[in-house]
Amino acid sequence: MKPVKVDGSASGRRIALVTGGTDGIGKAIALVLAKAGVDVIIIGSIGEKGTAVANELQAASGDCHVEFLQADLSLMSNVDALAAQVSARWPRLHYLVLCAGVMCGRYTRTAEGIETNFALNYLSRFALTEALLPCLVASGDSDDVSRILVIGGAAQNGKIQYEDVNLTKRFGILRVVSQFCEANDEFVLELSRRIAAAHSSSHVTVTGLKVGVVRTGIRRQFPLWMKLLVPLLDPFLSRSPKQIAASALHLLLGPKFEGETGALFLHIKHFKRLQPGRHTSDPAQGQKLWDFSRRLIAQARTVNANCVPCTNC
Ligand SMILES: NC(=O)c1ccc[n+]([C@@H]2O[C@H](COP(=O)([O-])OP(=O)(O)OC[C@H]3O[C@@H](n4cnc5c(N)ncnc54)[C@H](OP(=O)(O)O)[C@@H]3O)[C@@H](O)[C@H]2O)c1
Repeated sequence: MKPVKVDGSASGRRIALVTGGTDGIGKAIALVLAKAGVDVIIIGSIGEKGTAVANELQAASGDCHVEFLQADLSLMSNVDALAAQVSARWPRLHYLVLCAGVMCGRYTRTAEGIETNFALNYLSRFALTEALLPCLVASGDSDDVSRILVIGGAAQNGKIQYEDVNLTKRFGILRVVSQFCEANDEFVLELSRRIAAAHSSSHVTVTGLKVGVVRTGIRRQFPLWMKLLVPLLDPFLSRSPKQIAASALHLLLGPKFEGETGALFLHIKHFKRLQPGRHTSDPAQGQKLWDFSRRLIAQARTVNANCVPCTNC
């Protein structure tokens, strides 16, 4: 594993931001990063829980700094506010791990009008990355690249329902998962193309780690049939957050993966490289997703701009 380089941050260490760093896979990744000598900012939606986890990680990792910031990332207004806060305090960021997620079997939309699973598991990642990319570009250099890691589900070659992204006509967890996994995969590939085109002299990479069955609290909001089925798979298929974090650490700190970008990896039973399908790697699909995501985020911001404070907010 690559030794952590002393850098120009206030603490003199490299800095990682881990969304979903307060639980499950994200928490396990935050811990291995902190133990490797990286200062870590963890993001979650629940205040008291996040503060307690930050204290726990801090105690387990010695002298690295672990800090919790609270944000409901299903809301683009919260993503914008978080990005502004992070950019102001940490203008140089070395690792961005996008892990916050839910698998909610009940149909809900956010206050900004977007289906909750899609808003959190994909759109927030797009918005946060766009906003924080300058901080990653600022810290990457030729012998130490900045790295973005997108944690996603194992589903491949799914379908993004552009005509009905909120799945109002036919909602179901399999369509939800198919849609956000495909969006994340196309996002990784398109982002790497765009970074190469726009910042040819910069050193920022992006990879995706797709995971199978992992024993975490994400099961709380599964539909009933999945709550019954998935535990039956545990003895054969499931992995622990710690095992997934070990693979993530290779992608984030491993010299073997430095410079590796626009690549997808899969960890169901074992960690391996994945060849994306033709549709997923088609630049025209990447462009379509990009334009669509920007429009959706702009709509969410319009809802916020038009929001009159009321007793519900
Ligand atoms: N576990 C699996 O079997 C599995 C399978 C496929 C894919 N994945 C993917 O792996 C990722 C991590 O899942 P996990 O299993 O580690 O889940 P988890 O244990 O339930 O952790 C989810 C994390 O996301 C955060 N989060 C949830 N809602 C949020 C919100 N609205 N705003 C900000 N943060 C929020 C949670 O923080 P708070 O509790 O503070 O909100 C928590 O830190 C997800 O993207 C998921 O899609 C997991």
